[in-house]
Amino acid sequence: MAVTMLSAWCRVICLRKYFSSVSYNKKYADLTIRPNPLSLSYSRAEESFQHLCVHRKNEAKRSILIDINNKADGDFVYKHCEQFGKIKTALHFRNKKDYMLIEFENEDCVSELLSTAGHFQNDQKVPAETRLLFLTRNGNIKYKGNPEAAPVFSIEHPPLFLSDFLATDSLSSQMQLLYQHLQLTDLGQRLRFFICSTLEDMLGGLFPHCHIYPFGSSINGVGRNDCDLDMILSLCPDKYQVKKSTLKFLTKRKQEDERSFSQRNLHVFAEMIENFIPSCVGVIPILNARVPIIKFQHEACGIECDLSLQNNSGLTMSKLIYLLGVMDPQVRPLIFTVRHWAKVNFLSHKNPGPWLSNFMYSILVICFLQLRSQPILPPLKNLLLTDSRSKAQKQILFNKVGTCNVGDLLQEFLYFYSDFDFMSTALSPLHGNCFPKPDYSPLYIENPLDTELNICKNVNERELVKLCEAMKVALWQLNHSGPSLLSIFQTEDSKRILKKRFSVKDLFPKQE
Ligand code: CTP
Ligand code: MG
Repeated sequence: MAVTMLSAWCRVICLRKYFSSVSYNKKYADLTIRPNPLSLSYSRAEESFQHLCVHRKNEAKRSILIDINNKADGDFVYKHCEQFGKIKTALHFRNKKDYMLIEFENEDCVSELLSTAGHFQNDQKVPAETRLLFLTRNGNIKYKGNPEAAPVFSIEHPPLFLSDFLATDSLSSQMQLLYQHLQLTDLGQRLRFFICSTLEDMLGGLFPHCHIYPFGSSINGVGRNDCDLDMILSLCPDKYQVKKSTLKFLTKRKQEDERSFSQRNLHVFAEMIENFIPSCVGVIPILNARVPIIKFQHEACGIECDLSLQNNSGLTMSKLIYLLGVMDPQVRPLIFTVRHWAKVNFLSHKNPGPWLSNFMYSILVICFLQLRSQPILPPLKNLLLTDSRSKAQKQILFNKVGTCNVGDLLQEFLYFYSDFDFMSTALSPLHGNCFPKPDYSPLYIENPLDTELNICKNVNERELVKLCEAMKVALWQLNHSGPSLLSIFQTEDSKRILKKRFSVKDLFPKQE
């Protein structure tokens, strides 16, 4: 009886939330959650990835970010910017301070606007000019608000309530809900491309053909809204490198391997970012890693950034994960759920260590979907082939849209790995099979883009055992406490919080 009343009450709350979310979605149309693009043809899927990268990059070039004093100044800023050309989108968000991201219809408007911006009088610092601006309170603000308010959208991430979970009638719908709620939003993606674009501006003077591409969870379709930004800097795309010309640029040459080249140059770029680029703080060059990177934080956007040099395998891997997510609609909700489950159960952490990273969990899910008795995903080598015969093969694979229930797949995933023979078996996502482990690493997953390498080389035995045990516990919880995500997400901490407040917001903690 009590259960029926509780669920009826939750349904009322949920219906109310449903109706308010309808208007929310109407207002913010494409600004928040995008549906998973289902059942595209292979070439359409490739195009959609290409489109995502090119469209977002162009959008970022037409955008400026302004630190405004408070939300109320949004209308003034809009009207001020409008003088320089038509505004396509204006988004207000709060990250400690208030900001507005303004996208113009035309890139020229940005240069015109920048030509009118000045520096502070006491600015003895390096007078860098970027597309990150600041609204001054110098008395010019006479604007008292127009009866016709500017179309500035305020972006806030909608909270997820316990009632939402209780009102969904299956594990599958809860997983879909989680995926919809946690995935990277339109604003999140815009800001990530904006950061790449402003760094590109900085280097553009010396390297006019340089590109900074985002990769990893920012573009692979399985990124959370609080994910980091992984970037690759390509100083000179191949097509510009060799060209028949009478004159050649005189450049500095050094005889060195790719790694030393990365280390030497990243060291210099780290100094430049630290000293010249506003809002980039906490710059740490990590040059001894297998792939040398510069780490820093973009304060205004509140995003952790990693910049590497000329390492294109990350981009290829991101495209593969994106395509797999489009290939079968179950892939993304399953990866999101597994990664979130690992996070709230302290099996994965933001910093690298002897545990599995989010990327490793994604690959673990992909291997499972390739290895189950009725494979849902193809071996990655099928997607890497480029001849025309293989294109036809890829198309066939794309037409086979999965019919499984994603909730069942989660249970199958937990069952599959909780008892897997990691001791003697390695996984190959490239071939979609298993093979005898070539070394003594506790967990061996062959890197599909460099088969000599183990993606999980860092994982130690303790973490692997912890993972398998946690999978058994999760299976038990799903079978005994009912097939609900709540039973596997409720860590001791969140259970305590749940008793106090009737909200699961605390089950979705922010990344520390
Ligand atoms: N990568 C890889 N091989 C590894 C580690 C990383 O190819 N051993 C590539 C993958 O394309 C991965 C990207 O580098 O997506 C970024 O790595 P990371 O930030 O660790 O993973 P993300 O997928 O971006 O996940 P997160 O949300 O935790 O940032
Ligand atoms: Mg990342």
